[in-house]
Amino acid sequence: MDAIKVSGVSKSFGDVEALKKVVLSIPQGGIYALLGPNGAGKTTLIKIMTTLLKPDSGSVKVGGLDVVSQAVQVRKIIGFAGQFAAIDDHLTGRENLEMVGRLYHLGRRKARLRADEILRQLDLAGAADRTGRTYSGGMRRRLDLGASFITSPSILFLDEPTTGLDPRGRADLWDVIRELVVGGTTLLLTTQNLEEAEELAKQIAIIDRGRLIAEGTASELKERIGGSILEFRVQSGEQLERARDATRDLFSGNQAIDPQLGRISGSVASSTDALAQLVRRLDASGINIADIHLRRPTLNEVFLALTGRESE
Ligand SMILES: Nc1ncnc2c1ncn2[C@@H]1O[C@H](COP(=O)(O)OP(=O)(O)O)[C@@H](O)[C@H]1O
Ligand SMILES: [Mg+2]
Repeated sequence: MDAIKVSGVSKSFGDVEALKKVVLSIPQGGIYALLGPNGAGKTTLIKIMTTLLKPDSGSVKVGGLDVVSQAVQVRKIIGFAGQFAAIDDHLTGRENLEMVGRLYHLGRRKARLRADEILRQLDLAGAADRTGRTYSGGMRRRLDLGASFITSPSILFLDEPTTGLDPRGRADLWDVIRELVVGGTTLLLTTQNLEEAEELAKQIAIIDRGRLIAEGTASELKERIGGSILEFRVQSGEQLERARDATRDLFSGNQAIDPQLGRISGSVASSTDALAQLVRRLDASGINIADIHLRRPTLNEVFLALTGRESE
């Protein structure tokens, strides 16, 4: 059985079609990423999965339970951390977690034990008795994350857990997130960050303007745009335009040009042919190559190929 099954879900807010017939199967265990730019519909989908919002049409099953007709049971097996941390600034880190535990009827002793356990797990034990107000952005996110799994849910939803964090805070949170699934938890996270999806998730779904546009592992998604990326740099900036014109027809799509680095790249269908041709063409035009290589496309390039737009 899938951990989450989304069948033809649509949702509109007035004129805005936030989700259009989204179909998705999320397997049990491990991390699954829902990747998409701002406004793609990620939060809307996660709110439907977590029973906070009802779909206009279609259905969602979480742990085999229907999110509309069995919402109460669904809430018992899931945890959810929203896009904006919901911690009380006046309470200490430990008090925040204890309060959430009590809300879930854990009982005073159990809530206390669980709070301490989670504080250790999140590397927040040293700050347990400080009020939320004194926490850094990264610490607040970690505490909020801790609150979402206080009941040890089997399915955990995290909506943009690292947005707004600096690289250090992001890396710390990645470590925590990875550890969470070691025990078999299914974790669904949303992100606008390609690197994050690639770094954490086994499976990635790309959502854009309410539509699911691609699904697969990072390498499967890369496969979808086919071929390789041929990338080269010219030795001087004034040669860039000539190099672009001389090589335009070797690429299967548009060339990406980086004037600062003097670099041109693009996907090629037959990589070795294109490489040989490129060298010949540039040589004939008297253009000096500083650097040339073939590589697999990045997810950002996959996104561009799939949507015609940059991801950020
Ligand atoms: N409560 C709401 N009322 C009106 N429009 C909304 C509401 N919630 C979301 N939207 C719109 O639905 C679209 C998807 O939003 P959202 O799911 O928040 O995207 P994401 O989380 O991917 O940034 C956006 O165009 C957003 O403006
Ligand atoms: Mg959102």
